[in-house]
Amino acid sequence: MCTPRRRPETLGTVTDLVDSAFLKAARGEAVPHTPVWFMRQAGRSLPEYLKVREGVAMLDACADPEMIVEITLQPVRRYGVDAAIFFSDIVLPLKAVGVDLDIVPGVGPVVAKPVETLADVEAIPDLTPEHIGFITEAVRGLVGELATVNGGTPLIGFAGAPFTVASYLVEGGPSKEHAKTKALMFSQPDVWDALMRKIAGIASAFLATQVAAGASAVQLFDSWAGALTPADYVRYVKPHSARVLAEVGELGVPRIHFGVGTSNLLAEMGDAGADIVGVDWRTPLDRAIEVVGDRGVQGNLDPTLVFAPTDVMTARAAEVIEAGRAARSHIFNLGHGVIPSTDPDQLARLTEFVQSYPV
Ligand code: CP3
Repeated sequence: MCTPRRRPETLGTVTDLVDSAFLKAARGEAVPHTPVWFMRQAGRSLPEYLKVREGVAMLDACADPEMIVEITLQPVRRYGVDAAIFFSDIVLPLKAVGVDLDIVPGVGPVVAKPVETLADVEAIPDLTPEHIGFITEAVRGLVGELATVNGGTPLIGFAGAPFTVASYLVEGGPSKEHAKTKALMFSQPDVWDALMRKIAGIASAFLATQVAAGASAVQLFDSWAGALTPADYVRYVKPHSARVLAEVGELGVPRIHFGVGTSNLLAEMGDAGADIVGVDWRTPLDRAIEVVGDRGVQGNLDPTLVFAPTDVMTARAAEVIEAGRAARSHIFNLGHGVIPSTDPDQLARLTEFVQSYPV
C-alpha cells in the first residue's frame, strides 16, 4: 500500500486532504462515510456544462485551463461528491503529441490515419511535460480551488490504459468487436509490443504530470479490456498496464484500475498493481470482492438505476454499500459513466443517500 507523500508546493492542501473519506478508502483505511464520486460526473448531464461548452469543441475545451477548472468543479459544487475527476479525455495526450484525431460529438474519438505498421508506431512522439503545460496549469489551479470545497476535495487524475487507447488508434474510431486491434495483437506481436510500450510511456508521463501538479490519486481506464480472454489479457496487455501502475505508484498516490465487462479479468487487473479495482455493474460486487483479494473495490450501481423511482434507486444503492462491507475498502460509483440524459437532481439524491448511509 502506498503512503501519501507530501509535495512541497501543495503541502497545506495535501495535509488537509489526507483525512478525506475518498483518500482514506483509497488507502484501505476506515472511513467516516462511504465516499462517492461518479465517472463522467462532469459532462452532458449538467446544464452548466452544456452552457460552458456551447460552441467549443471537446478537445479545445480540454486544452483550456480555465475551462478545465470550471468544468471539473461543476459536479463537485453541485453534488458535494467526495472526489473530483480531472476533465480531459483518454485521447488528449495523443492529440498533444501531434496525432491527427478529433472527438466527434455522439461518436467519440476518430483517428485520421489508423496505426497499421511499426513505422506508424514509431512516428508517434513520446509525451514530455512540454507537450502538456496546460495540464499542469489546470491541475494546479484545480488543486488550489478544491482545497476550499467541502473542507478539501481530492482530485483524481487519469489516463487511458494501453489496450483501450490502442483500440482507438488501430480501429480509427470506436469499435464494438475491437477486431482490427486484436488482429494486430495476434498477427504482428512486434508491432503490438511497440505500440503498447509507446502508449504505456505516454500514459505514465500523463499521470506523472498530473500527480506532480497535485492530483491525489489516479484512475487507469481500461474500458474495453473486457473484449479479451484472461489468457490474452495476461500475455498481451497486463505487463504494459502493470508498468504504468508501477511507475505512478512510485509517486506515492493510490491507483484505481477500471474496465467494463471485466468479470473474468478482475483478479488480473488487481494484480497488475491496483490499490482499488473498479467494477462495472454486470458483476455482483460480492463476487468481485472474492476475486480481488486484499484490495479495495469501486462501484458499481447500474447507471440506468438513476432513471428508476428514487426509492428503487436508493434500495439498490444500499445493496451495493452492504456488499461493499466485505471489501478491504469501498468507494461508491456507478458501474460506468453517467448517461447524458441523467437527471442531475437524482444524482444529488444518490450522493446524499450514500454519504449519510451508516458505515
Ligand atoms: O467526468 C469525467 O469522468 C472526466 C472526464 C472524462 C471524459 N472522458 C470526458 C468526456 C474521462 C475520464 C474520459 C475518459 C474516456 N474517454 C474513456 C474512458 C472512460 C469510459 O467511459 O469508459 C473513453 C473510452 C473515452 C473516449 C471517449 N471520449 C468517448 C467514448 C466519448 C463519447 C463520445 C460521445 O459524444 O458520446 C468521448 C467524449 C467525451 N469525453 C465527452 C466527455 C464529457 C463528451 C463530449 C462532449 O461533451 O461533447
